[in-house]
Amino acid sequence: MGNCGIIMDMNIWDKLPKPFLILAPMEGVTDVIFRQVVAKAGRPDLFFTEFTNVSSYASEKGRANALERLEIAPTDSPIIAQIWGKNPEHFAVVAGALEGLGFAGVDINFGCPDKNVNRAGGGAAMIKTPELAVECLQNAKKATNLPVSVKTRLGWSRVDEYKEWLPVLLREHPVALTVHLRTKKEMSKVPAHYELIPEIVRLRDEISPETKLIINGDIKDRAQALELHQQYPEVDGFMIGRGVFANPYCFTEYQPTREDLIELLKLHLRLYAEYDNKVLRNAPSGPSSRASVAPKSPRRRLCSSEPYHHILPYEPLKHFFKIYINNFPGAGEIRAKLMETHSVEEAWKVIEDAGL
Ligand SMILES: Cc1cc2nc3c(=O)[nH]c(=O)nc-3n(C[C@H](O)[C@H](O)[C@H](O)COP(=O)(O)O)c2cc1C
Repeated sequence: MGNCGIIMDMNIWDKLPKPFLILAPMEGVTDVIFRQVVAKAGRPDLFFTEFTNVSSYASEKGRANALERLEIAPTDSPIIAQIWGKNPEHFAVVAGALEGLGFAGVDINFGCPDKNVNRAGGGAAMIKTPELAVECLQNAKKATNLPVSVKTRLGWSRVDEYKEWLPVLLREHPVALTVHLRTKKEMSKVPAHYELIPEIVRLRDEISPETKLIINGDIKDRAQALELHQQYPEVDGFMIGRGVFANPYCFTEYQPTREDLIELLKLHLRLYAEYDNKVLRNAPSGPSSRASVAPKSPRRRLCSSEPYHHILPYEPLKHFFKIYINNFPGAGEIRAKLMETHSVEEAWKVIEDAGL
C-alpha cells in the first residue's frame, strides 16, 4: 500500500521542516497529560505516544487499557502511535485500527531494552529475530494507509551489528527510521555513538534514500540538535527524550523562568485532575486496570465538595515534580513536601503554602 498517491497526501513525514524535532516516546512519561504540558512549553514538530502492546490491543481484555494509552488531545497533534509486540497478525490488527483514531502514523518499536518486553520477544529482542521483525513490519504496512516507521538501536550486544540490522529494516523502506545510537546491552550507560552517523547515512542513501533518518540519544535541546545538523546535514530529524526532564522548553530557544516552570506544574496538576475525573466518569461499574492502585480513602474534587476516589494512580505523578521544582533556593524542601502528598489537592496546598 505504501506507494499510492493517497498515501503521499497523508504523509506527515513529507510536511516536516528539516531538521525536524520529535519528542521521544517514553513509557510512563509521555502520556496524553505530559504531552500537553510539553506542547504548552514549546512544541516539537512531532509527538509520539508511549508504546502500546499489539497483543494487548488485539485481545478483548487488554483493549480498554491499550486505548487509554492511545488517548490523544488536540494540542499534541501531529502524533505517531508507537506499538510493540512479536505477533505479526496482531501488528496488522492494530495498524489497521489506528487509522481511525487520529494518528498521523504508526511507529514500530524494535529497540526497547526492558527485560519483560524482551522476554516477551518484543522491543530490542526483535534485533535477534530479523525475519520475524520484517514480517511484523510488512503486516503493519499492508494493514494501514498510515505511514509506518521504525525506532531501533544499533544492535543487541555489539555496536557493529548495525551493519546487518539496519539494512534489514531499510530494505523494507520504512517511511522513517529512528536510530538510538546505542546497543541494547549499552542501555543508556555509554555516550551515544555519534561517530557512526556518516556510516548510517550512507546505508540509508544506498538502500532507501526516501526513508527519513532520525538520530536519537543524548540530545539535550534544540540548540544541540541544530549543531548536530550542521555537522550531519543529511540527517532529517532529531529525537529528544530525557532532555525534556532537564528543560521542558527544550524544543525552543527560550530559557524558562522559575514562574514559567511553576505554571507548567500547575497545568500538569490541573490536567491530571481533569483526566482523573474523566476516567472516573467513564469507568464501568468495577475498578479499571488503573484503579487497582488507587488509594482506598475518598478524596475531594478540586472545585466541589463531592467526595471521589482517584482512578489514575497518583504516585507516578510525583516523578514529574523535579522537572518543575528545581534550581532555586528552597526547591529541595518544597519538593520533599510534594513527595509526601497523596492527592492533587495536597500538592496544590504545598504550592500555595510556599507562595508559588
Ligand atoms: C522513562 C523512559 C521510557 C521510555 N519508553 C520508551 C518507549 O515507550 N518507546 C521507545 O521507543 N523508547 C522509549 N524510551 C527510550 C527513549 O525514547 C529514547 O530512545 C532514549 O531515552 C534515548 O534518548 P535520550 O538520550 O534523548 O533520552 C524510554 C526512555 C525512558 C527514559
